[in-house]
Amino acid sequence: MPMTSIRVLRVGQRYVRDERTLTHLCLVSRALGAETIYLEDAEKDVLTTLEGVNRTWGGAFQAVLGASWRSVIKEAKKEGRSVVHLTMYGMPLQDVVPELRKADKLLVVVGGPKVPGRIYHEADYNVAVTSQPHSEVAALAIALHEIQNGEELKRAFQKSRLRILPTPHGKRVVEN
Ligand SMILES: C[S@@+](CC[C@H](N)C(=O)[O-])C[C@H]1O[C@@H](n2cnc3c(N)ncnc32)[C@H](O)[C@@H]1O
Repeated sequence: MPMTSIRVLRVGQRYVRDERTLTHLCLVSRALGAETIYLEDAEKDVLTTLEGVNRTWGGAFQAVLGASWRSVIKEAKKEGRSVVHLTMYGMPLQDVVPELRKADKLLVVVGGPKVPGRIYHEADYNVAVTSQPHSEVAALAIALHEIQNGEELKRAFQKSRLRILPTPHGKRVVEN
């Protein structure tokens, strides 16, 4: 079965910039099967970190800096990508996920401390990973995992410099 094409948008304004959270959102998106993340506002260091991760561990994950949430959502809709906004106020993930699994292209939107009200209306789905407040990194990880039915765990990353040989104890890493 072909993997769903998933892109991630992180909505956030300059005054609440948090590079560590942004980096974690990128790494989680990459590791769990998304192809691109759009960050409204981030330092270029995030790109350098990701380029290094791609070089070492493979794949072609992309971060795009500076595009406004409006333009990313508009573009997504134009190409038939359903917009899934993760928010504690939305419909329970477990109820919506069967429908999300049918989509071939998704844009998953997460917020920072403040999300513009308009996004709740622009989204095709407002989806809650429990109706309790927690973190955009956790919400994203669980949503990606559920949407892909766990298939993302088996994915191989092409053209890596290093590869891990899973082992119950210690570390085994080989060069490709
Ligand atoms: C620190 S929270 C901000 C919560 C804030 N009260 C709001 O929703 O505007 C940052 C982001 O984490 C995600 N998030 C937090 N809890 C969530 C939940 N229970 N379900 C889905 N997403 C959640 C949302 O994307 C939210 O925009």
